Amino acid sequence: MSPEIVVGDLPGLRGRLAREFDDAARAAIAARGRLVVALPGGSVAEAFFAALAEAPVDWSSTDFFWIDERAVPPGDPDSNYGLASRLWLTPAGVPAARIHRMAGDERDLALAARRASEELTAVAGDPPRLDVVLVGVGEDGHVASIFPGREVLTPGAVGLPSAHEAPVEAVYDAPKPPPRRLTMTLPVLLAARRVVVAALGRAKAQAIRDALHASDAVTPLAHLLRTARAPLVLLDRDAADLLPT
Ligand code: 6PG
Repeated sequence: MSPEIVVGDLPGLRGRLAREFDDAARAAIAARGRLVVALPGGSVAEAFFAALAEAPVDWSSTDFFWIDERAVPPGDPDSNYGLASRLWLTPAGVPAARIHRMAGDERDLALAARRASEELTAVAGDPPRLDVVLVGVGEDGHVASIFPGREVLTPGAVGLPSAHEAPVEAVYDAPKPPPRRLTMTLPVLLAARRVVVAALGRAKAQAIRDALHASDAVTPLAHLLRTARAPLVLLDRDAADLLPT
C-alpha cells in the first residue's frame, strides 16, 4: 500500500505521532496485553520523545526496544538508549522490566546482537512482530543502522526473517560515526504492524523524494517504504521540500 504522507509543523507532527502510539496501544493491549515498540536515535528522538513522554498513552504496558544502537556505554551522549531514557522513559516512569536496551557497551558485538535477538524474540515472537517501529532517515537513505549497499538489503531479506536469520545484527563499518553499532534487520522493520518514518530538515529532502518517487531508488529507506504494509511518513515542510505538489 502506498505510504500515507503527513506534512506539517513540529507540534502537529508530535500530536499525530502521539495519536498513532495511542491507537496502536489500545489495539495491542486489548489483543495481546502489551504494546511493543522500537525507537530510533538522532534528530527524531530529540524532536519527539519529550512530547511522547507526556502523551496520555499507557506506557507502563509498553515494551521498549531500539531499532539500532551505537557501540557506546548507556551514559554516553551518543547512546540511543540514553537519549530515550532522559527524554521519555524516565519522565514517563516506564518500569525497568519494560526497557530492553541493546548492549552497545558489550565488547563482543556479535554476542550483544545474539542477546538482543533473544530478548526481542522472547517478547515479540519468533520471528518478531513489533507493533510500532519509529524510524529516522539518513541523508543517504539509511534507516536504523542499515546503510545503502549492505547485505541486509538483498532480495532474500524481504519478508519475515527465516529461522536462520537473526533479527539483530552487529555492524562494524557504519559510514555514520560511530562505525560499530547494533541494528534490527530490514525484515524485522518490515514485519512490524505499523512503520512510522519521520524526517525533519532540508538535508533529508532528497532521500525522501527519491524513496517516494524514484522508481530506481535502492536505498534501505526506499525499500522500506515500498515494501512495508501501511507506512506512515511524517515530514516537516523542509523535508517535504522536493516532493511534487
Ligand atoms: C542512529 C539512528 C539513525 C538515525 C539516522 C538519522 O542511531 O543514528 O537510529 O538511523 O535515525 O541516522 O539521524 P539524524 O536524524 O540525527 O540525522
